[in-house]
Amino acid sequence: MEKIFSYDKITLLTRAGLKKNKLILVSDINKSIVEKIFFSVGKTKILKNKTAVFVFLENSTRTKISFEMACNKLGVKVVHFNTSLSSTNKGESLIETLRNIEAMGADLLIIRHGDQLNISELYKLNIPIISAGSESISHPTQALLDLFTLHKEGMVNKNKKLLFLGDISLNRVANSHKNLLKDWGFEIGYSYPKELCLKDTSKELKYFKNKKEALAWADIVMVLRLQSERKNFSSDFLEDYKQKYQLTLKDIETANLKKSDCLKVMHPGPYVEGLDLEKSVTNYEHSFIYKQVKNSVPVRAAIIQSLLQGD
Ligand code: CP
Repeated sequence: MEKIFSYDKITLLTRAGLKKNKLILVSDINKSIVEKIFFSVGKTKILKNKTAVFVFLENSTRTKISFEMACNKLGVKVVHFNTSLSSTNKGESLIETLRNIEAMGADLLIIRHGDQLNISELYKLNIPIISAGSESISHPTQALLDLFTLHKEGMVNKNKKLLFLGDISLNRVANSHKNLLKDWGFEIGYSYPKELCLKDTSKELKYFKNKKEALAWADIVMVLRLQSERKNFSSDFLEDYKQKYQLTLKDIETANLKKSDCLKVMHPGPYVEGLDLEKSVTNYEHSFIYKQVKNSVPVRAAIIQSLLQGD
């Protein structure tokens, strides 16, 4: 058994062959560790003499800023890698760049990457790493802060029905949630365009072809963005997508007519106005969207503290 996190007495990890102190996939942590992280949200302390290097190879607003604010909260110094001014432009490989950051003695690497880098290569590095979004596979800290939001709103372990609405095919948040939420008492449903998926998973998942039917079933809907930066979509496809998967206030009002508790709305962000979400939904009384963002700083601070205290 190899140790990944070491937070107080929580030192469990059963996945073989991983280097310690990594949060790249949600399978790098277990339920006890998640509970311990959640317990420490809002109670983090100053960590002395720690430096985090941020390597963001894809665009980010929420994740990058909230990680930096979390580091500020913890007294962790931040150094930013600048791709356009780096020696990757002289032919150095990305993994070699990361090995150099490791050799300089950085205490933590926070990295967002697409297919420039394979996740398995990160596990070979001997430095604590947090994924800030890896390929279309993993976004563990987003999944954790979403789960924390659900926990804070009293939704965990209550047999709530959580619907993912939108494109799951290239969505790293949905992928991380698939592996995380099952341990927390949620029934998960999906409504997504099957034609975007490499294989038909609709029989393995609780799948809804129809948005209205899906929203009538759900207690919570997590709307997902179409990953237009990873794939080109025709204007016909986009129009069809909007009709079938965009969440509007009218959709919510219709669903709420038959519910005892109003539908709760989540979105990991960024949302595309008029495609995956109607703007008015962000002001809906039971939207958790800005609560997710608010929770991102203390949750990420707790995750960083947990990782660095495991040194
Ligand atoms: N949720 C999320 O990852 O947002 P950003 O891409 O803005 O960081």
